[in-house]
Amino acid sequence: MAVVALPLLLLLLLGSSPTALVAVAADGEHEAAQFTVLDMTLLKPHDACSGHRVTPSQNGSWVPLYHPLGPCSPSFKGGAARAKPPSLADLLRQDQLRARHIHRMASGDFRVSKGSRKSPVWLEESQIHNKQRMGIDVKYGSQFSRQQVMHGPAAATDDDGGGGDGSSGESSPGVTQTVVLDTASDVPWINCVPCALAECPYYDPSRSTTYAAFPCNSTACKQLGRYANGCVNNQCQYRVNSTSGPTSSGTYGSDVLTLDSHNAITGFKFGCNNNDNNGDDSSGNNNGIMALGRGAQSLMAQASSTYGNAFSYCIPPRDSEKGFFRIGVPGGAPYMFVTTPMLTDRRSPSLYRAALVGISVAGERLNVPPEAFAASAVLDSRTALTRLPLTAYGALRAAFRDKMAAYRRAPATEEMDTCYNFTGVRFVKLPKVALVFDGNNAVVELDKYGILVGGGEDDHGCLAFTANSNDAAPAILGNVQQKTIEVLHDVADRNIGFRRLAC
Ligand SMILES: *[C@@H]1O[C@H](CO)[C@@H](O)[C@H](O)[C@H]1NC(C)=O
Ligand SMILES: *[C@@H]1O[C@H](CO)[C@@H](O)[C@H](O)[C@H]1NC(C)=O
Ligand SMILES: *[C@@H]1O[C@H](CO)[C@@H](O)[C@H](O)[C@H]1NC(C)=O
Ligand SMILES: *[C@@H]1O[C@H](CO)[C@@H](O)[C@H](O)[C@H]1NC(C)=O
Repeated sequence: MAVVALPLLLLLLLGSSPTALVAVAADGEHEAAQFTVLDMTLLKPHDACSGHRVTPSQNGSWVPLYHPLGPCSPSFKGGAARAKPPSLADLLRQDQLRARHIHRMASGDFRVSKGSRKSPVWLEESQIHNKQRMGIDVKYGSQFSRQQVMHGPAAATDDDGGGGDGSSGESSPGVTQTVVLDTASDVPWINCVPCALAECPYYDPSRSTTYAAFPCNSTACKQLGRYANGCVNNQCQYRVNSTSGPTSSGTYGSDVLTLDSHNAITGFKFGCNNNDNNGDDSSGNNNGIMALGRGAQSLMAQASSTYGNAFSYCIPPRDSEKGFFRIGVPGGAPYMFVTTPMLTDRRSPSLYRAALVGISVAGERLNVPPEAFAASAVLDSRTALTRLPLTAYGALRAAFRDKMAAYRRAPATEEMDTCYNFTGVRFVKLPKVALVFDGNNAVVELDKYGILVGGGEDDHGCLAFTANSNDAAPAILGNVQQKTIEVLHDVADRNIGFRRLAC
C-alpha cells in the first residue's frame, strides 16, 4: 500500500545500510510491475469537461466520443441542474438487462425478453442508461425545405472533431443528433418527427429534401431481413428489438449522414423511429443508435467501400473526458495494436467475438482450465461490467481479494461481490489485471480506471467484474474494462485490436 510504504522507506533511509536500500528499490520496481495506484478523488463527478487526454491522430476520420449526460456533452447542465448521478445499485440493475440481452443474442434468441416490456425500472432510471453509454454527434440530412430545429450547440464539437484542419462543420445544415454506439446491433436508427415530446428535437424527414423512404420492393428493404416489418403506403418498415424489451420501429429510408466536415455518407440507410414506446434507447439526450454490428445494415457495412470495413473507439477514463470514435483503419502512424482473431458464431452473426483464454492478476496467470473459457467472448460497447465464466470469475476474485487484503471489505452491491470501503483512503493500490486473448502474446493490460467501479458519495469501490451462472455462456467484455484502450474492430482483416493509453 503506497501510503504505508512511504514511512517505511523513510525509516530505512534514516537508519539502515546501503544494501537494504537497494533491496527496497528493487522491490519497488517489482511492485510497479504488479500494482497500479488509483487516486480515488479522480472518480468523483466533475462539472467541467477537460477534453482529450491524448489527442487522436489526424489520420483517418474520427469524432469525439463522450458520455451523453457528462460535462463533455454539448447539452450538459452543470451545478444544481446536473443530473443526479445514479447509484451503483441502479446502474447494475440496468447493466444486468443489457448483459442478459447479449447472452440471449449470443444463443440466437432475438425475441423481446418476457416481462421486461415497460418495466418501471427503465422508465424511471433512464439516465442510468446514458451513464454507461457512449455517444457521438452526427448530422442527418443536408438540405431542408424549412428551418429544422437544431439540437444543442452544433458547433461545440468542431474544435477537435474529425480531420480538424479548420473548416467548420457549422456550414453543414444537417440536424445534429446524439447517437449511442452499439456494437451489438445492426440497424442504425434515430427518433424522427413526429414525436411525443412537447419540444421535439428530432430530425424531420418530411422537410429534408435529401431524404427518401425505401419502397417496399427495393433491394435495401429486402436487405432488412429479420428486421423487416411490413409495408405501409409502399414505404419499407423496420423493427428492432432493443436492450430491455421495447422496440424501435418506423420507416426505413436514407439521407446524408455527416460525421464531420470531411466525411459525409450520401444515401445512408437508417430507420426513422416513430415508436414512442422505445423506452431506454431514446431517453435523455440520446436520439438514437449508431449500429456498428456485423449485419449488412450497419454503418460499417454501408461505409466499407469508402473506409474499409473497420472502426475503432476509445472510451475515456472519466465522464469529464473525451474519447473518440474512428471509422476506417488508423493509417500511417506507429499504431501498435495487440491483436487477436475476430471470431464468428453462426447463431449470432452480428456480434464481435474473440477467444479470451486467460487472466492475470498482479502479473500472475490465474490457474483456470481452458474448458472454463469454452465459448468465445463477446465484445460489447454498452455492457458496463465484464461478465466472466463462473470458474474464471472465481479465480479472479480469489486472487484480487488476496492482493487487496489491506483494505476494508464492504457488503456486496447487487451482483458485485468484491467491494471495499475506501473511506479515508485516497490512493488505492490495485493489482494489475490483464486479459489474455488467443494469439501471439495477445495480453491486454487493463487501465487502472478499468478495474473498479464506484468512488461515489459513499467511498465504495467494487471489482468491476461479475460471473455468468456457468462456464458455457460467453464472457462479455464490458466498457469499464475497455476504458482508455482503443478497441479496433477490423472486419476486413478479421482482427480485434487493443491499443493501450489511447485516450
Ligand atoms: C423481436 O421480437 C419479436 C417478439 O418477441 C419477435 O417476433 C421478432 O422476431 C423479433 N425481431 C427481431 C428482429 O429479432
Ligand atoms: C417496385 O415497384 C414499382 C411500382 O410498384 C415498380 O415500378 C418497380 O419496377 C419495382 N421495382 C422493383 C425493383 O421490383
Ligand atoms: C498520417 O499518414 C501518413 C501517410 O499515410 C503518414 O506519413 C503520417 O505519418 C501519418 N501521421 C500521423 C500523425 O499518424
Ligand atoms: C466505512 O468505514 C468508515 C470508517 O471505518 C465507517 O465510518 C463507515 O461507516 C463505513 N461505511 C460503510 C458504508 O460501511
